Amino acid sequence: MYVVKSPLSDANVKTVSEALQGALVDLVDLALVAKQIHWNVVGPRFRSVHLQLDEVVTLARTHSDTVAERAAALGVSPDGRAATVAVGSGIGVTPEGWVDDTAAVGTLVDALGAVIARMRERVMATAEPDPVSQDVLITITADLEKQHWMFQAENG
Ligand SMILES: [Fe+2]
Repeated sequence: MYVVKSPLSDANVKTVSEALQGALVDLVDLALVAKQIHWNVVGPRFRSVHLQLDEVVTLARTHSDTVAERAAALGVSPDGRAATVAVGSGIGVTPEGWVDDTAAVGTLVDALGAVIARMRERVMATAEPDPVSQDVLITITADLEKQHWMFQAENG
């Protein structure tokens, strides 16, 4: 069912929708992973890591909404269902249970690195088909790379 008319050609909307949908599942999962670690981190750096993880949660939730609504604006139905996220996310499985602060930071370094690599591919893929979506993805990638830097510095 097509309710919203897309401003893009069919070929371009396919490329852009794949990029936005991929970004959506990665960002939803990043918010879940960051909350999981936020709840389970232990150790001397608990306070700073615990609080920084909620910055990632807020960032990921805000940007997941941005890419989902960008897809909708292009006439593409966003899919943020748990099953879709579980299958499509580029982030590895987070171990269950308590996690010491160094491992917690390492988990975020890995998760952010995985998402950033995929986001940079999406930035390249959307350049010609839709620079407006590309601009959204560039902004998100910059925010993710800032967090990636800070978590790497935490374990430096
Ligand atoms: Fe909390």
